Amino acid sequence: MSQAVRKMQYAVRGQIVMMADKLQAQGKDIIFTNIGNPQAVGQRPITYFRQVLALTDLGDYGLDHPEVNTMFPVDVVERARKIREILGDSGTGAYTGSQGALGFRKDVAEFLEKRDGHPAYPGNIFLSNGASSAIESVLTTIMSTELDGVMVPIPQYPLYSALIAKLTGTQVDYYLDEENNWAASKQTLEEELKKSILDGVDVKALVIINPGNPTGQVSNRQELEVICKFCSDNGIVLLADEVYQRNVYAPDKEFLSAKKVALETSGCEHLQLISFHSTSKGLIGECGRRGGYMELHNIDGYVQSQLFKLASCSLCSTVSGQIMTSLMVNPPQPGDDSYELFQKEENGIFEGLKRRSKAVVEGLNKVDGINCNPAEGAMYVFPKVELSKKAIAYAEEQDMTPDTLYCMSLLEETGICVVPGSGFGQKEGRYGFRTTFLPPDEQMIPAIELFASHHRDFSAKFAD
Ligand SMILES: Cc1ncc(COP(=O)(O)O)c(C=O)c1O
Repeated sequence: MSQAVRKMQYAVRGQIVMMADKLQAQGKDIIFTNIGNPQAVGQRPITYFRQVLALTDLGDYGLDHPEVNTMFPVDVVERARKIREILGDSGTGAYTGSQGALGFRKDVAEFLEKRDGHPAYPGNIFLSNGASSAIESVLTTIMSTELDGVMVPIPQYPLYSALIAKLTGTQVDYYLDEENNWAASKQTLEEELKKSILDGVDVKALVIINPGNPTGQVSNRQELEVICKFCSDNGIVLLADEVYQRNVYAPDKEFLSAKKVALETSGCEHLQLISFHSTSKGLIGECGRRGGYMELHNIDGYVQSQLFKLASCSLCSTVSGQIMTSLMVNPPQPGDDSYELFQKEENGIFEGLKRRSKAVVEGLNKVDGINCNPAEGAMYVFPKVELSKKAIAYAEEQDMTPDTLYCMSLLEETGICVVPGSGFGQKEGRYGFRTTFLPPDEQMIPAIELFASHHRDFSAKFAD
């Protein structure tokens, strides 16, 4: 079998989660904070999205029902009709074109133009199965030999390391600075590039995740300019993972897309950029729908045609994901029948995330031996945990990383399932974990005290 597949690791669903599933099957209550899967931990779907999705799927019992206008809000019915026009007679059960239906890609392009104030073209948009499939297609297309490198932020979302391992390319780590709110410095980027050149590695692409997973930072214009310039100057394709663009909680921060910054930074006119977005995150959380897109900017026409060929081999992304993407980028507007309820539901989700992001960081920072940067955005915190020499030595004896020992103990003692920091990459000698703040207040707020009491007990048990 493929040794590359054997080598792949994906900690978000790794050893700790498998144990959590086992304990749950034995009847233990588990609080799953290991994965950004909002609806799996109680987030309710937004009504408007589900109404439109249902109507587009149902014929005689839905859009063609004589009473449809009395059963659904007017704007829902209109939107479902528009979607039917886009898909044509074949409807939601047929393959679309490989890149996704043109009408939905037009919606995405309009959204991007409004968001960034710069032109966007449906021809440069590829609809995808979540962001994951788009990221995989791009990495597959970019890497051709073992010495083709991709620069990845550390800590990173482990899809990147997993795919690079699967594609047998070279992962070039660039460390984010925890003391500087997880920013990437120009010096680090340049040093890592220099080292990889000396090792014979040809760096093809660089990944940024903004807002950050697992780190929760929201990059400012200056930080993005540094990245854009670095990539532009060195002929490196920038891969901007922007799936958390709606998840910004820090009052003094706003999401800025890499494309906007590149287009407004002199010297970056020719930056090759691919940006990713998804219906799984934001305030939507429709992870199972598998919707998303990528936008190509300044990508060579031949490379684009190869990406198209690759997309053709998978026929098309899921049609309900394509519809969901169109709804995400073009939601109800003021004056529409559904607007008030839509706003209320979205605000409720946003305020809950914002409240818990603050509560979790504050609660963890009160614990002696835990240190946590603010969660300015995304859905995660990534605290640093002080571990004793005794705990580290014991973990080594057990053939696990020290933070795996810690997270396993947290799971067994409290039922909280998190992911060890080592699964995302971190500086040598740093230990920690990633937790989401997705579960509802009634679960998450008491969990903060459980994190604290577990840390005290664990530290006492392994005191040097
Ligand atoms: C940073 C980041 N990128 C991409 C993804 C992929 O998500 P999806 O394929 O559901 O869009 C995730 C999922 O957690 C993520 O955190």
